[in-house]
Amino acid sequence: MPHPIIFDTDPGVDDAQAIAIALRHPDIELLGMTTTYGNVDVETATHNALLLAELAGREIPVAQGAAAPMVKPRHPAPAHIHGANGLGNIELPAVRGRPDPRSAAQFIVDTVNARPGEVTLMAVGPVGNLAAALQLDPAIIDKVKQVVIMGGSVREGGNVTPVAEANMFNDPDAAARVLTAGWPLTLVGLDVTHRCVLTPAHMARIEAGQGALGEVLAGSYAFYRDFYYEFLGIDGCCPHDSCALAWLLRPELFITSRGHLTVAMSGDAEGQTIFAPEGRAFIEARWSRTPLVDVCLGVDGKAVSDWIADTLA
Ligand code: BDR
Ligand code: CA
Repeated sequence: MPHPIIFDTDPGVDDAQAIAIALRHPDIELLGMTTTYGNVDVETATHNALLLAELAGREIPVAQGAAAPMVKPRHPAPAHIHGANGLGNIELPAVRGRPDPRSAAQFIVDTVNARPGEVTLMAVGPVGNLAAALQLDPAIIDKVKQVVIMGGSVREGGNVTPVAEANMFNDPDAAARVLTAGWPLTLVGLDVTHRCVLTPAHMARIEAGQGALGEVLAGSYAFYRDFYYEFLGIDGCCPHDSCALAWLLRPELFITSRGHLTVAMSGDAEGQTIFAPEGRAFIEARWSRTPLVDVCLGVDGKAVSDWIADTLA
């Protein structure tokens, strides 16, 4: 049985790779995409989500969501990483489709309520849409099947600050709410995504296998790859957002640990995810106050990267 999912995203080069998997994989039933600012502004995110679905020949609802963080001012979009258009500044075809008239939060609430116990919420951008959906209808906590979030870092350190990962840093207030809501949640963060490298050889296979969609994936990858070479000294890119789908479909490739998660909302540690393993007593009891979640701490990075390429080749 395929997994029914809502994919919450800020496309974004690595988001686009993940969207392609969600659109193509037979074990995924993509119920809709919800968009957020993050790698780009939210209008561009919506445009890109619609475009990627059209290039794959799919009609998928796309509901636009958060344009800014819940509380703090918005950080500038990282145009040097994803390009000003989110897809490596390559020329893009026109989009024909229109977004769903509902807000992302309303779309999430309606879809989860229509299929209680079935829907996986997968978020690979700042998580304001999930926070807004919780505000709209807190009862979805008991109705989602699970929540999978690409974000955070436990041992790896951050990619925006020494301790904060981008999706958490972009809206730490929303992240604190979503990560401690008490729903079944798995965090797929930099501890695993930095172990995965999508190489030029992988991308050549993807380009050859994906027609017009493959051209956009390969063109945007070329831009993103330059950033990774400068930033991490690797030839390729970390396919962060695809790792969340890999966890869903190939969990045996990951090592997870259960524990309590909190998010620092201000100060130098803003956006840091802090993990207290289950059963480990701390003198300060407050570190065990949040509901238990699962955090990915280990991965077979080569197998995940090969799986991404095999899925799209
Ligand atoms: C995350 O931040 C974004 O730039 C990527 O799309 C990914 O979701 C990685 O830190
Ligand atoms: Ca993303």
